[in-house]
Amino acid sequence: MPDTLAQPMRFGSSSGQPVTRRDGIAKVTGDADYAADHSPSGMLHAVYAPAAIARGRVTAMNTVAAEAHPGVVRVITPANRPALQGDPADKSVMFTFRIEVLQDDTVRYAGQPVALVLAETLEAATEGARLLDPQYAVEVPRVTLADAESEPVAGQGFGQPADTTHGDVDAGHAAAARSVDVTYTTAAQYHNAMEPHAIVAQWEGDHLSLDVPTQAFALSCAGYARYFGIPAENVTIRCPYLGGGFGSKAIPAGPLVLAVLAARDVGRPVKLALTRKQMFGPVGHRGATEQRLRIGADGEGRLSVIDHDNVAETSTFDDFVEPAANASQGLYAAGALRSRHRAVRLDVGTPGPMRAPGEASGSAALECAMDELAEASGIDPLEFRLRNYAETEPGTGRPYSSKALRDCYLQGAERFGWSGRPSAPGTMRDASGLLTGWGMGTALFPAPMFAAQARATLKADGTALVETSAADMGQGAWTALAQIAADSLGLPLDAVEFRAGHSSLPDGGVAGGSGHTATAGGALHAAGLDVVRQLGEIAAADPESPLHGAGNAQFVARDGRLFVEGDEGRSDALADILVRAGGAPLTGTGRGARAPEAAAAHAMYSHGAVFAEVKVDPDLGQIRVSRLVGAFAAGRIINPKLAESQLFGGMIWGVSFALHEEAKFDRRTGRIMNADFAGYHVPVNADVPGLEVIMVHEDDPHVNPLGVKGVGEIGIVGTVGAIGNAIRHATGRRVRRFPIRIEGML
Ligand code: MOS
Repeated sequence: MPDTLAQPMRFGSSSGQPVTRRDGIAKVTGDADYAADHSPSGMLHAVYAPAAIARGRVTAMNTVAAEAHPGVVRVITPANRPALQGDPADKSVMFTFRIEVLQDDTVRYAGQPVALVLAETLEAATEGARLLDPQYAVEVPRVTLADAESEPVAGQGFGQPADTTHGDVDAGHAAAARSVDVTYTTAAQYHNAMEPHAIVAQWEGDHLSLDVPTQAFALSCAGYARYFGIPAENVTIRCPYLGGGFGSKAIPAGPLVLAVLAARDVGRPVKLALTRKQMFGPVGHRGATEQRLRIGADGEGRLSVIDHDNVAETSTFDDFVEPAANASQGLYAAGALRSRHRAVRLDVGTPGPMRAPGEASGSAALECAMDELAEASGIDPLEFRLRNYAETEPGTGRPYSSKALRDCYLQGAERFGWSGRPSAPGTMRDASGLLTGWGMGTALFPAPMFAAQARATLKADGTALVETSAADMGQGAWTALAQIAADSLGLPLDAVEFRAGHSSLPDGGVAGGSGHTATAGGALHAAGLDVVRQLGEIAAADPESPLHGAGNAQFVARDGRLFVEGDEGRSDALADILVRAGGAPLTGTGRGARAPEAAAAHAMYSHGAVFAEVKVDPDLGQIRVSRLVGAFAAGRIINPKLAESQLFGGMIWGVSFALHEEAKFDRRTGRIMNADFAGYHVPVNADVPGLEVIMVHEDDPHVNPLGVKGVGEIGIVGTVGAIGNAIRHATGRRVRRFPIRIEGML
């Protein structure tokens, strides 16, 4: 296979265009089908009984009553649960956590499945689960960081970020003319994609066929295969559409595995769809953090140290420590840097990656602490950041593959009108008397790549089919990836059919880490070039082709024609070459990945700067974000409309993080009290301010052949701190707890 790292992408007419998403009509007309839309004949409905306590044991369940219900077919509890071939604690597949599949009667968090009921109808399954009426031996639950019964510990494995130190931290503290020592907390947040987790499982012998949302086809197939002791190729996953993932749909979750187990047990297809309330527990969340930042600067406002201690929650049975302190380590040119991550074990479901894991929570604290130090130093917040601009990656000294952050600062500030900001807090009021404040924050997100494969097939009618499995979470992959493929094949976008969303296709890698466009796009690009190369060989050998005899020239496809590089004089139509060769379709393959040498040579990040305006009612303390301007540099932008949309989405989540989202626990039962959209607040339209995104031009010759970084997560990152800082500027109050609510203004 050709290596995508070998040839930089030549962009044609498609990339860079603000094409409207190709799946939009299907979605708004209801044609798009999601996992739970499937109902194969003979299917049973599964509903699980969730634990009503957070810590203890199930002592009894009324299985007799549930089984007596006329629609109920089977009741599965730890006492009769059929064997699983794999270990529920097996974490050998990337991103996997120990799952809850009725392996014992211990309750480890509220909402944990304690029994599964299969019935002919959803209503019967729901009623059966209710009739179980579990009884418990209750222990006192620990559900907030303050409930910790022991000192925070270091976790293990994938979920434990490494502690890091660069430079002499003690000397950095000693050298500081001014310093702040502040502790910020962030609340637990739960993934609430529009589409809750759902699965329809069917077995045929030892072949498993699933309709289930997934951000990662190959990983999911491997995960299910391990739990059921079958080869990964025996697992088929269909997922043409995903109603959002946010990091929670990369790997099999416990309740879904339970549905698959049940389907095998009864020999019939089984559907299980989580309710909104059930999204709060077994499918991951963003763990609460308590972050202590000790940062210091010299008399000129140059950082001598960033010392970042993070304590986050994890579950009692697995480790995911929100990597919040990482956020401070790649951004500002401090003399010394230190990060430390520890966990408190709570009676909650295991946390996991959630849109901008680490960076969102860490940057919220860092950007506010930076403003605190800027204020203590008497320096404008933007000037303070520019004074500490890192020309190479702090700590490692590696060059950036590209970094147009300075342009982000300047263009964002210009558009926002930052130069008119009075430095004293509490001095701006608008015409209606609301306190008005301006704040800013820097955004940073790594530009990772996973590994992906793709296939491109050119047909004699001049159209092409391009294929890679990874799904479109709603971010527009169906469109942006097709644009890349069209350019690599030299075809107009409407001549390219894009097929994704099925595990039988070449693996599209992971739709996560903001790396999907770069990775799957890289694979599609390489597959297109493979077709072009083969086509060139055919044309060069064809006496009837104007390209006959071109030998081992480099061929370029453009506008449906094949050219010899550097020779505009002769060309041949792609379709004609194939027709003369007999008309059979021509297939090329490619992969997308980053070579380890490339990853080591450069620090690779998307950057941005977000400017926020807030209004605070001086009497009521009500807070509104009235304006957000974000300027982002993320390498090449394949589709400006979709990229802007991703950044809007991220910035709106930033508003949510700053002002709204928080899982609230009843500390007596350990249950989440607001496990629904009535009580778990996310911004509605009225909460969303005027949004502006500036895409700052950035050429990146190193990050990958496409020059693409990623825009999926970075929008949240700078926004949270910008809003916290704007509230301080409006009111003079520094609130160190997110979300910031009215009570923080009193
Ligand atoms: Mo994400 S948290 O990279 O799906």
